[in-house]
Amino acid sequence: MKAGDLERVSTGVPGLDEIIEGGLIPGKTYLIVGPPGSGKTTFGFHFLLQGARRGETVAYASLVVDPNEVVKDMLRFDPSVQVYVGSKKLRLFDLGPILWRESSHVPTWKSVLFRLREIAEEGLSRLVIDPLTAIEFPMGNPAEKRAELARFIRGLEDLGVTSYLIAELTDMSRYTEEHYLVSGVIMLHYFLRNGRMIRGVQILKMRRTKHDTAVFPLEFTHRGLLVKGESLPI
Ligand SMILES: Nc1ncnc2c1ncn2[C@@H]1O[C@H](COP(=O)(O)OP(=O)(O)O)[C@@H](O)[C@H]1O
Ligand SMILES: [Mg+2]
Repeated sequence: MKAGDLERVSTGVPGLDEIIEGGLIPGKTYLIVGPPGSGKTTFGFHFLLQGARRGETVAYASLVVDPNEVVKDMLRFDPSVQVYVGSKKLRLFDLGPILWRESSHVPTWKSVLFRLREIAEEGLSRLVIDPLTAIEFPMGNPAEKRAELARFIRGLEDLGVTSYLIAELTDMSRYTEEHYLVSGVIMLHYFLRNGRMIRGVQILKMRRTKHDTAVFPLEFTHRGLLVKGESLPI
């Protein structure tokens, strides 16, 4: 171990930890961005299942889709997901509909953080929020949005959990604040090459970590996602 090395949290995606000095920094918040179908939700489940396999309690907070439906998708590549749900090592939270029923509005970051605090009291090490884009932040004024988002991220980090915030990448300029505030930004690419769609992963930002900024191939196999070591020539 080199001087200054920290304990790292594995992403659970084969091939990825190797390009970020062993993994993520515990207790920090990471943004996972990419277009629909790029693999964001699956990427989040790799991270959660890695923790559950180590005996940790982890949580998936779904803001739009029924998390039980998401689990059915994940069964395709890891049947143990159902086992961890059954043993409550993997906790599922349907935050959107619960909060919508209460307020009849899109949930605000404060109401989501309130629910997450209750969840974290039960002892959580990893959390995935899918998607961040379904939570309401004041959008009118960029300075105000950044301040509120900073409070949300600080609130998450105070819970002591390592978190993924998943965001749909539809308009790059919408996510400027998020990019500044989180400890790392992992971008999933999904693009057309020779008549078919190709997936890639790119580390845009990773605090305290020496990393390559190239796009690496991200492949879907019957075991889920896999990062190949050779960067893609784009
Ligand atoms: N076994 C598989 N092999 C290849 N592609 C798959 C497989 N399972 C799912 N996919 C693809 O992955 C997509 C879903 O990935 P997901 O993690 O939900 O992406 P996102 O959350 O970014 O929309 C599916 O729409 C499908 O295109
Ligand atoms: Mg998704």
